[in-house]
Amino acid sequence: MSSNTKIDRKVKDLSLAEEGRRKIEWAESRMPVLLELRRRYAETKPLRGARIAGCLHVTKETAVLVRTLVAAGAEVAWSGCNPLSTQDDVAAALADEGTRIYAWHGMSVDEFYWCIDRTLDIEPTLTLDDGADLIFSIHNRRKEKIAGVWGGTEETTTGVQRLRAMAGDGALGYPVIAVNNAETKWDFDNVYGTGQSSLDGILRATSILIAGKNFVVAGFGRCGRGCAMRAKGLGANVIVTEIDPICALKATLEGYRVLPMEEAARIGDIFITATGMKDVLDGKHFDAMKDGAVVCNTGHYDCEIRIADLASRARSVREIRRDNDEYVMKDGRRVYLLAKGRLVNLAAAEGHPSEVMDMSFANQFLAMKLLVEKKGTLENKVYDVPKEQDEEIAALKLATMGIRVDKLTDEQVRYRTDYSSGT
Ligand SMILES: NC(=O)c1ccc[n+]([C@@H]2O[C@H](COP(=O)([O-])OP(=O)(O)OC[C@H]3O[C@@H](n4cnc5c(N)ncnc54)[C@H](O)[C@@H]3O)[C@@H](O)[C@H]2O)c1
Repeated sequence: MSSNTKIDRKVKDLSLAEEGRRKIEWAESRMPVLLELRRRYAETKPLRGARIAGCLHVTKETAVLVRTLVAAGAEVAWSGCNPLSTQDDVAAALADEGTRIYAWHGMSVDEFYWCIDRTLDIEPTLTLDDGADLIFSIHNRRKEKIAGVWGGTEETTTGVQRLRAMAGDGALGYPVIAVNNAETKWDFDNVYGTGQSSLDGILRATSILIAGKNFVVAGFGRCGRGCAMRAKGLGANVIVTEIDPICALKATLEGYRVLPMEEAARIGDIFITATGMKDVLDGKHFDAMKDGAVVCNTGHYDCEIRIADLASRARSVREIRRDNDEYVMKDGRRVYLLAKGRLVNLAAAEGHPSEVMDMSFANQFLAMKLLVEKKGTLENKVYDVPKEQDEEIAALKLATMGIRVDKLTDEQVRYRTDYSSGT
């Protein structure tokens, strides 16, 4: 792909493009569903005429999505959805092949919103979010853009929850598809993706032994379940904290110990928050922690750990390793905060493995296509992904894995709905 210098863009270092291109190629070799969709729609170009503003982690998998949207005819402008998650080589590769991209690792909060604003310069007809910061920017600061937008998609749990609240208040200015809530996303990406990549982030930032450690997982939803499962697999004693009795019961029957955080804080060696809720770990927990405790977050925002409480208790702070800050408490205990409390899997590792993003981004792609097809007919609500889309993606994924499933016979189909006979 040729270098394109006419397109407006801002990335850290364009000379990283070749390295980024190789990373993207590697991801493509693991994302057969998205590549099949790219092949299918490259000629008919169902996204022709659509201008997509995207705000989603700039990783090698996202680059595969961007290439697929462009191949289907869309014009795209992109920013990262977290100041610490952009892979600079991938951003450089995308910029080099002509994408309007505004993203670099380690940006400030002001720069984060500046990047979003630049993507709005394309006058988007569609928005693609992970955490809804783009949609919030349009609704709170750039209201003049709402009229031009046909619809949007949302990638993550926290974003969907807030957009549903907005729609409930009548404040949502255009329809949104909750990509997160597709079964082929929520039950795979959040569980197996977050599980593996969060442990990957913890290992890269600490290099410690997981076996034998008390590993505290706050929140036993999809992400928490994945983290607990993988930590257990590495030999940790997993402790779960919850606020929901059903989730707490599920954790108990999975064999995990369930405790209130105030008790878990005293015995934990490693803590990970996966709740989407603020202040899950705060001052009283830091006061109780053992010397050497490691603390991190894999929920969308960096508010799950009250870093101000940690800072106010520390007599010194230093970066002891990459993505690992040592807080020495006034009484001499040390607490280690990974990735500054931001998504540990994206900031300290590379985010979810490509194989799982294959399904999430196939959902994003098909949801964008659906928004084009349904343009002008949807209400300003949050819609779930249609069941048929979920089934199509699951079937495609299985086919690419060489796995076949059985089919019901006609007799079995009749049996399923037969209410004339019993025992
Ligand atoms: N790291 C990633 O790459 C990644 C991927 C997907 C989702 N996410 C984010 O992770 C978070 C969780 O997503 P999910 O899909 O697992 O959501 P979920 O709704 O399935 O699970 C969240 C769980 O947290 C529990 N919870 C809420 N407040 C709590 C508290 N104070 N203490 C203990 N438990 C509490 C809830 O009861 C629920 O069981 C969201 O912010 C989501 O956006 C991150």
